[in-house]
Amino acid sequence: MKTELLAVDDFSLKKAEALLRSGQVVAFPTETVYGLGAWAFSVEGIDRVYEAKGRPSDNPLIVHVAPGMDLSKIVTEIPEKGRILMERYWPGPLTLILPKTEHVPLRVTGGLSTVAVRMPSHPAAMKLIGRTGLPIVAPSANTSGRPSPTSAQHVLEDLQGKIPLILDGGDCQVGLESTIVDLTEKIPMILRPGAITLAMLEEAVGEVDVDPAVRAAAGLNSDLVPKAPGMKYRHYAPKGYLILTDREPEQVADFIRQDLAEKEQKIGLIGSDEWIRKVENALDPVRVTAVSLGTGSAMDEIARKLFDGLRKTDEEGLERIYGEAFQRKDLGEAIMNRFLKAASERRISEQTKQ
Ligand code: TXA
Ligand code: MG
Repeated sequence: MKTELLAVDDFSLKKAEALLRSGQVVAFPTETVYGLGAWAFSVEGIDRVYEAKGRPSDNPLIVHVAPGMDLSKIVTEIPEKGRILMERYWPGPLTLILPKTEHVPLRVTGGLSTVAVRMPSHPAAMKLIGRTGLPIVAPSANTSGRPSPTSAQHVLEDLQGKIPLILDGGDCQVGLESTIVDLTEKIPMILRPGAITLAMLEEAVGEVDVDPAVRAAAGLNSDLVPKAPGMKYRHYAPKGYLILTDREPEQVADFIRQDLAEKEQKIGLIGSDEWIRKVENALDPVRVTAVSLGTGSAMDEIARKLFDGLRKTDEEGLERIYGEAFQRKDLGEAIMNRFLKAASERRISEQTKQ
């Protein structure tokens, strides 16, 4: 299959609409990451999404809606706290888990009686969903296991030849997938951290829990079963052996010298400009490849560049990569959740060198 890459305009949106209506899939930009969309009520389209991504079918999909759309076709009820959160943070990077209606196919929800709903704020996503009037399921438009795509180029890398159309809307503003909040219990619970932070949610609706599986490291290598099925899978992993560390730059430099003494290999760094500079200074005259995520004083920039940075470590052919462990607060929680998954939980902090 030939994959077309088109800028977002009337022509390409019309084409996208026709494809979705006929049970095909279309990749499109959202403010978080690119999504691989299909009409939520098209069994054919849903199957194609799973197939193109190589995604396990027990991993449910998020239903994307546009302003003014009738949610009563999708969810049976919206509790008061849900209304408040929608009012406050929709359209935007927030997904809500609510009880599903009988109309929503079990294929969408992986057999669950709940459904994930989100209203993206990216103009292209709003236009596409708005003009079709169709609720659109859209997982991140990457091959399962790879970093989520934050540019049309990333989607092309993963899905060229497997899907008919990619709408190119430039780079994604947020860069990490939406925050997922479960509203089916009395106290809302974060199942996946994102740009709508715990503090932002608490400010709107009071007490909010965090799924213990999210807090137990990144949810991998743990006996706790995450409530969002997708959180249990290995994710975002670069080809190189990634290790996160919060040790002093001099120590990171020591590790690298030691690694190089043991065997010849391509070693790299991924982190903020400031951290990279310090490690490079400590390493001098030894040189390694650095992948910058921007300034450490702007966590939103780090978030925006993280997935692209992980892909770059592959392009550079890095075999062993040291990554900067960021503070796990506010947006740092979401960044570290993804970064630790990419590192399969490997980290060197305080005492140990693994
Ligand atoms: O920002 C985003 O949310 C992006 C863009 C494209 O909108 N989409 C995205 O979809 O990240 P995906 O499929 O990569 O991740 C969806 C996550 C998975 O972890 C899945 O298990 C969880 O949402 N999920 C979906 N439905 C659920 C449900 N009913 N209960 C619990 N978790 C659910
Ligand atoms: Mg995904």
